[in-house]
Amino acid sequence: MPQPKLYVFDAYGTLFDVHAAAAAQKDAIGPAFETLSQTWRTKHLEYSWIHALTGRDASFWTLTQRSLDFAIASIGGVPAGVRAKLLAAYRQMDAYPEVFQVMKSLKAGGAQLAILSNGDPDMLTDAVTSAGLAGLFDAVLSVRDAGIFKPDMAVYRLVLDRFGGTANDVSFQSSNRWDIAGAEVFGFRTVWVNRRDAPDEYPDMAADHIVRDLNALIETT
Ligand code: LAC
Repeated sequence: MPQPKLYVFDAYGTLFDVHAAAAAQKDAIGPAFETLSQTWRTKHLEYSWIHALTGRDASFWTLTQRSLDFAIASIGGVPAGVRAKLLAAYRQMDAYPEVFQVMKSLKAGGAQLAILSNGDPDMLTDAVTSAGLAGLFDAVLSVRDAGIFKPDMAVYRLVLDRFGGTANDVSFQSSNRWDIAGAEVFGFRTVWVNRRDAPDEYPDMAADHIVRDLNALIETT
Protein backbone atom coordinates (compact mmCIF):
# COMPACT_ATOMS: atom_id res chain seq x y z
CA MET A 1 0.00 0.00 0.00
CA PRO A 2 1.42 3.44 -0.83
CA GLN A 3 1.64 5.80 2.15
CA PRO A 4 -1.26 8.22 2.27
CA LYS A 5 -0.12 11.69 1.38
CA LEU A 6 0.30 14.09 4.30
CA TYR A 7 -0.94 17.65 3.87
CA VAL A 8 0.07 20.16 6.51
CA PHE A 9 -1.58 23.57 6.68
CA ASP A 10 -0.65 26.84 8.26
CA ALA A 11 -3.64 28.20 10.19
CA TYR A 12 -4.02 31.97 10.22
CA GLY A 13 -4.46 33.39 6.74
CA THR A 14 -4.32 29.95 5.14
CA LEU A 15 -7.33 28.15 6.66
CA PHE A 16 -8.76 30.99 8.74
CA ASP A 17 -9.55 34.50 7.58
CA VAL A 18 -7.52 36.73 9.89
CA HIS A 19 -8.91 39.93 8.39
CA ALA A 20 -12.56 39.04 9.01
CA ALA A 21 -12.36 40.27 12.63
CA ALA A 22 -11.67 43.89 11.69
CA ALA A 23 -14.00 43.74 8.68
CA ALA A 24 -16.88 42.77 10.99
CA GLN A 25 -16.17 45.90 13.05
CA LYS A 26 -15.69 48.25 10.12
CA ASP A 27 -18.67 50.45 10.97
CA ALA A 28 -17.37 50.95 14.49
CA ILE A 29 -13.74 51.42 13.45
CA GLY A 30 -14.34 53.53 10.34
CA PRO A 31 -12.29 53.73 7.13
CA ALA A 32 -9.05 52.81 8.93
CA PHE A 33 -10.32 49.27 9.59
CA GLU A 34 -8.14 47.74 6.85
CA THR A 35 -5.05 49.62 8.02
CA LEU A 36 -5.74 48.43 11.56
CA SER A 37 -6.08 44.83 10.38
CA GLN A 38 -2.90 44.92 8.30
CA THR A 39 -0.91 46.57 11.09
CA TRP A 40 -2.26 44.07 13.61
CA ARG A 41 -1.18 41.13 11.45
CA THR A 42 2.22 42.59 10.51
CA LYS A 43 3.07 43.48 14.12
CA HIS A 44 1.82 40.11 15.38
CA LEU A 45 4.28 38.33 13.09
CA GLU A 46 7.11 40.80 13.81
CA TYR A 47 6.65 40.24 17.54
CA SER A 48 6.82 36.47 17.00
CA TRP A 49 10.11 36.80 15.10
CA ILE A 50 11.65 39.16 17.66
CA HIS A 51 10.71 36.83 20.50
CA ALA A 52 12.12 33.86 18.61
CA LEU A 53 15.39 35.61 17.78
CA THR A 54 15.89 36.95 21.29
CA GLY A 55 14.90 33.71 22.98
CA ARG A 56 12.08 35.41 24.90
CA ASP A 57 9.13 33.18 25.61
CA ALA A 58 5.65 34.56 24.96
CA SER A 59 2.40 32.90 24.04
CA PHE A 60 0.89 33.70 20.65
CA TRP A 61 -2.20 34.97 22.46
CA THR A 62 -0.14 37.48 24.44
CA LEU A 63 1.36 38.70 21.18
CA THR A 64 -2.12 38.84 19.62
CA GLN A 65 -3.13 41.34 22.29
CA ARG A 66 0.07 43.40 22.25
CA SER A 67 0.03 43.73 18.47
CA LEU A 68 -3.64 44.71 18.51
CA ASP A 69 -2.87 47.41 21.08
CA PHE A 70 -0.14 48.80 18.83
CA ALA A 71 -2.46 48.70 15.80
CA ILE A 72 -5.23 50.47 17.70
CA ALA A 73 -2.83 53.17 18.88
CA SER A 74 -1.46 53.60 15.36
CA ILE A 75 -4.88 54.61 14.02
CA GLY A 76 -5.60 56.90 16.96
CA GLY A 77 -7.85 54.54 18.92
CA VAL A 78 -11.15 52.69 18.48
CA PRO A 79 -14.50 53.15 20.28
CA ALA A 80 -15.01 51.51 23.67
CA GLY A 81 -15.76 47.81 23.44
CA VAL A 82 -14.21 47.27 19.99
CA ARG A 83 -10.90 45.90 21.31
CA ALA A 84 -12.74 43.15 23.20
CA LYS A 85 -14.85 42.35 20.12
CA LEU A 86 -11.75 42.09 17.91
CA LEU A 87 -10.08 39.72 20.35
CA ALA A 88 -13.23 37.62 20.68
CA ALA A 89 -13.46 37.41 16.88
CA TYR A 90 -9.84 36.24 16.74
CA ARG A 91 -10.87 33.23 18.81
CA GLN A 92 -13.91 32.45 16.63
CA MET A 93 -12.59 32.67 13.11
CA ASP A 94 -14.34 31.59 9.96
CA ALA A 95 -12.53 29.31 7.55
CA TYR A 96 -12.15 30.48 3.96
CA PRO A 97 -15.08 29.25 1.86
CA GLU A 98 -13.32 26.35 0.12
CA VAL A 99 -11.61 24.90 3.19
CA PHE A 100 -14.25 22.43 4.39
CA GLN A 101 -14.85 20.76 1.01
CA VAL A 102 -11.14 20.60 0.16
CA MET A 103 -10.35 18.93 3.48
CA LYS A 104 -13.20 16.45 3.02
CA SER A 105 -12.00 15.61 -0.50
CA LEU A 106 -8.39 15.14 0.52
CA LYS A 107 -9.44 12.92 3.40
CA ALA A 108 -11.76 10.91 1.16
CA GLY A 109 -8.76 10.34 -1.11
CA GLY A 110 -6.85 8.77 1.78
CA ALA A 111 -4.65 11.73 2.74
CA GLN A 112 -3.68 12.61 6.28
CA LEU A 113 -4.26 16.22 7.30
CA ALA A 114 -2.59 18.39 9.92
CA ILE A 115 -2.31 21.98 11.05
CA LEU A 116 1.07 23.45 12.01
CA SER A 117 0.64 26.89 13.53
CA ASN A 118 2.15 29.58 15.71
CA GLY A 119 -1.19 29.58 17.54
CA ASP A 120 -1.41 28.35 21.13
CA PRO A 121 -3.15 24.96 21.47
CA ASP A 122 -6.31 26.52 22.98
CA MET A 123 -6.47 29.16 20.23
CA LEU A 124 -6.27 26.44 17.59
CA THR A 125 -8.94 24.37 19.29
CA ASP A 126 -11.24 27.40 19.31
CA ALA A 127 -10.54 28.19 15.65
CA VAL A 128 -11.00 24.63 14.40
CA THR A 129 -14.23 24.23 16.36
CA SER A 130 -15.78 27.57 15.46
CA ALA A 131 -14.95 27.06 11.78
CA GLY A 132 -16.74 23.69 11.81
CA LEU A 133 -13.58 21.73 11.02
CA ALA A 134 -13.46 19.58 14.17
CA GLY A 135 -12.60 15.96 13.45
CA LEU A 136 -11.05 16.59 10.03
CA PHE A 137 -7.43 16.82 11.14
CA ASP A 138 -5.21 13.92 12.20
CA ALA A 139 -3.13 16.38 14.24
CA VAL A 140 -3.26 20.02 15.25
CA LEU A 141 0.34 20.94 16.01
CA SER A 142 1.24 24.12 17.88
CA VAL A 143 4.69 25.69 17.98
CA ARG A 144 4.37 25.68 21.77
CA ASP A 145 5.70 22.10 21.62
CA ALA A 146 8.87 23.38 19.94
CA GLY A 147 9.24 26.36 22.29
CA ILE A 148 9.89 28.77 19.43
CA PHE A 149 7.97 30.37 16.58
CA LYS A 150 8.11 29.78 12.83
CA PRO A 151 10.25 29.76 10.77
CA ASP A 152 12.63 28.01 13.18
CA MET A 153 13.42 24.55 11.82
CA ALA A 154 12.39 23.00 15.17
CA VAL A 155 8.80 23.93 14.34
CA TYR A 156 8.71 22.13 10.99
CA ARG A 157 10.39 19.14 12.64
CA LEU A 158 7.27 18.71 14.83
CA VAL A 159 5.52 17.26 11.78
CA LEU A 160 8.06 14.47 11.33
CA ASP A 161 8.13 13.84 15.11
CA ARG A 162 4.38 13.25 14.96
CA PHE A 163 4.00 11.43 11.63
CA GLY A 164 7.43 9.95 10.88
CA GLY A 165 8.61 9.78 7.29
CA THR A 166 10.79 12.34 5.61
CA ALA A 167 10.26 16.02 4.81
CA ASN A 168 9.80 15.19 1.14
CA ASP A 169 6.68 13.16 2.03
CA VAL A 170 4.96 16.32 3.26
CA SER A 171 2.98 18.83 1.25
CA PHE A 172 3.02 22.09 3.22
CA GLN A 173 0.49 24.84 2.48
CA SER A 174 0.75 28.42 3.72
CA SER A 175 -0.45 31.83 2.61
CA ASN A 176 2.55 33.36 4.38
CA ARG A 177 5.41 33.60 1.90
CA TRP A 178 7.99 33.71 4.71
CA ASP A 179 6.52 30.47 6.16
CA ILE A 180 6.86 28.81 2.77
CA ALA A 181 10.50 29.95 2.72
CA GLY A 182 11.10 28.22 6.07
CA ALA A 183 9.27 25.07 5.03
CA GLU A 184 11.21 24.96 1.76
CA VAL A 185 14.53 25.18 3.61
CA PHE A 186 13.35 22.33 5.87
CA GLY A 187 12.67 20.22 2.80
CA PHE A 188 8.88 20.06 2.60
CA ARG A 189 7.11 20.16 -0.74
CA THR A 190 5.67 23.65 -0.55
CA VAL A 191 2.48 25.23 -1.86
CA TRP A 192 2.19 29.01 -1.46
CA VAL A 193 -1.49 29.97 -1.21
CA ASN A 194 -1.31 33.46 -2.66
CA ARG A 195 -4.85 34.58 -1.84
CA ARG A 196 -4.12 38.29 -2.26
CA ASP A 197 -2.13 38.12 -5.49
CA ALA A 198 1.00 39.38 -3.76
CA PRO A 199 4.32 39.65 -5.63
CA ASP A 200 6.63 36.71 -5.10
CA GLU A 201 9.71 37.07 -2.88
CA TYR A 202 12.52 35.00 -1.37
CA PRO A 203 13.76 33.76 -4.80
CA ASP A 204 16.41 31.60 -3.12
CA MET A 205 13.64 29.82 -1.16
CA ALA A 206 11.09 29.39 -3.93
CA ALA A 207 7.76 27.63 -3.46
CA ASP A 208 7.29 24.41 -5.41
CA HIS A 209 3.77 25.52 -6.38
CA ILE A 210 1.86 28.79 -6.23
CA VAL A 211 -1.93 28.61 -6.08
CA ARG A 212 -4.74 31.12 -5.59
CA ASP A 213 -6.67 29.08 -3.03
CA LEU A 214 -6.83 25.55 -1.66
CA ASN A 215 -9.12 24.25 -4.41
CA ALA A 216 -5.96 23.71 -6.45
CA LEU A 217 -5.04 20.80 -4.17
CA ILE A 218 -7.99 18.75 -5.33
CA GLU A 219 -7.82 19.93 -8.93
CA THR A 220 -4.28 18.60 -9.33
CA THR A 221 -4.47 15.39 -7.30
C1 LAC B 1 0.28 30.50 11.80
C2 LAC B 1 0.48 31.92 11.37
C3 LAC B 1 1.87 32.24 11.08
O1 LAC B 1 -0.86 30.01 11.84
O2 LAC B 1 -0.29 32.20 10.27
O3 LAC B 1 1.29 29.86 12.12
